[in-house]
Amino acid sequence: MLTVGIETSCDETAVAVTEARRVLSSVVSSSVRLHATYGGVVPEIASRYHVEYIIDVLERALRDAGVKLSAIELIAATNGPGLVGALMTGLSLAKALSAACSLPLIGVNHVLAHLYSAFVGATTPPRFPFVGLVVSGGHTALFSCSAIDRQRVLGQTQDDAVGEAYDKVAKLLGLGYPGGPAIEKAARQTQRERPLVFPKSRLGKGSLDFSFSGIKTAVLYHVRKLPRLDASVVSDISDGFQEAALDILVEKTLAACAAVASDRVVVGGGVAANGRLREKLTSAAEAKGIAVFFPERRYCMDNGAMIGVLGEALYRTGMRADLFLGAEPNLEVTYAE
Ligand code: KG4
Ligand code: ZN
Repeated sequence: MLTVGIETSCDETAVAVTEARRVLSSVVSSSVRLHATYGGVVPEIASRYHVEYIIDVLERALRDAGVKLSAIELIAATNGPGLVGALMTGLSLAKALSAACSLPLIGVNHVLAHLYSAFVGATTPPRFPFVGLVVSGGHTALFSCSAIDRQRVLGQTQDDAVGEAYDKVAKLLGLGYPGGPAIEKAARQTQRERPLVFPKSRLGKGSLDFSFSGIKTAVLYHVRKLPRLDASVVSDISDGFQEAALDILVEKTLAACAAVASDRVVVGGGVAANGRLREKLTSAAEAKGIAVFFPERRYCMDNGAMIGVLGEALYRTGMRADLFLGAEPNLEVTYAE
């Protein structure tokens, strides 16, 4: 089914044309540089950017795919969670297209789209059941997934998301926004043999929840005690922070696999682009006979392809939306396992 996937939950204006798991085009226009001076996304700036560029992005996606709007068979759009003004822009376009072209409409949960983004463009997608790990700027959660419309939250962050922790630590270190790629790059320059030690919050034995606010505060106190922040100190702190944060992700993900007796893990979200996470999780999992699946890097960050692919899959399970579909800033994962 030729599907238009629309994603505007945060600072990326993204539209893709997909057909099953195949991506015919994926256009992403980001307002990230407009937020850089503020050290985080400014909702009003993000919303205005979506309003200004979404039609151009749609037209380019159709052109790149080489299809006319009249050939499209399904409209899928993120309806939450996210910034409400930003969500409204994509959702309004989706509803307008659905009404004007008499096309079915489907609302897609942004977190679930990240969860299943390893399916995007995959010739052989991971087999169900598996443990899902979503690591993005807004969410950090573990899921038990038994089908594309059947998943249960096993644990989630009680405070900051891991991507948010990367962004906050980057700000403290003067590395700018977004922090993830900057910290990853700085960490690679460290000359230390053993990383600086920062606290790892485990939230009690057996807990599959996460907490990343403590590590961020520990970095803040560490930085305050330093006479100055030169490049080598920044690299050492980036490395220490990253190792501690990723160790927790790896540990809890393997614990989740043990808890539900799974030997497959599927990762998604912006932090899934991180090379060090890929290395650490893959080697720790392989040692236990667990296979790990990551999305292609371009589908880790926000994009329309993950919305189109999940949208069509959900449509095929019988899900439908109508023009009353609302933008839900705090939309939760409600499907039962
Ligand atoms: O999934 P995403 O595009 O948006 C949300 O739904 O939040 O994720 C963005 C997050 C940001 O916090 C960014 O710093 C982080 O993903 N990120 C990374 C890397 N690339 C992006 N974190 C660590 N390492 C990276 N290479
Ligand atoms: Zn996202």
